[in-house]
Amino acid sequence: MTAPLFELRKVTYAYPGRQPVLRDLDFSFAGTEQIGLIGPNGSGKTTLARVVLGLARPGAGQVLHHGAPLVRDRDFTAIRREVGLLFQSADDQLFYPSVLEDVAFGPLNLGLAPGEAVARARQTLERLGLAGFERRITYKLSGGEKKLVSLAAVLAMRPRALFLDEPTNALDTATRARLVTILNELDIPRIIISHDFDFLAQTTRTIYALADGRVHFDGHTATHEHIHAHVHAHVHTHAHGGVPHEHGHDHDHDHDHDPA
Ligand SMILES: Nc1ncnc2c1ncn2[C@@H]1O[C@H](COP(=O)(O)OP(=O)(O)OP(=O)(O)O)[C@@H](O)[C@H]1O
Ligand SMILES: [Mg+2]
Repeated sequence: MTAPLFELRKVTYAYPGRQPVLRDLDFSFAGTEQIGLIGPNGSGKTTLARVVLGLARPGAGQVLHHGAPLVRDRDFTAIRREVGLLFQSADDQLFYPSVLEDVAFGPLNLGLAPGEAVARARQTLERLGLAGFERRITYKLSGGEKKLVSLAAVLAMRPRALFLDEPTNALDTATRARLVTILNELDIPRIIISHDFDFLAQTTRTIYALADGRVHFDGHTATHEHIHAHVHAHVHTHAHGGVPHEHGHDHDHDHDHDPA
């Protein structure tokens, strides 16, 4: 058995002066899965992503990368290369004046020659429908444009897996649909944090929920556009055969649920 890409063991994390957000949390990502992560506002999803990549350091417990505990800041360099994190807020991701500089930064940092880094940045922007944005001033972009440029910055590094925090936030319907297509074409392992169930059904296979400081298995996304058995989910609607279809905690076709 090879070790998982990353693992959290008994992780507890509290912001200064507050009750723990993550409490004795265990979670393991083999590095092949396509996982959706749900949970109420403030439940700790973003904090979890930050702990995995060493941007927040737990007060107790361990973060392991391919079986090795990550202790010092520099231990997190390799996992940050392997797992591309899309921040919930684009302002945390983009810090250069121009779009091209922002997207080329990652490849440059990985050691690519400047010409190659720029070529890769242009190619990634084009793939996301952002050709022509190269010279745009990052801080003047719209919210959705910033989100897409942030995603381009992540993808340009060609990570082995993606950790996307609210990728559809601020995207219009057409752009969201394009993102679904792009993610499905990429066929790359991923963890996607989202409140958008239909998006998760289209882009992931298994749902986990963060509640009470821990990660709980929630169910599999079906191959048709409908998720079964969200034990931890809020009532929500799916466009199902064109007809809005509402269900919640207690709907009764409870397929595949594994309370593990
Ligand atoms: N820098 C911080 N200092 C203090 N408290 C914080 C900080 N960042 C987050 N929190 C608190 O920690 C809790 C978890 O926040 P987190 O951002 O991880 O939630 P989330 O599940 O990502 O929520 P959302 O769905 O709204 O993005 C919240 O109560 C939040 O207010
Ligand atoms: Mg969040």
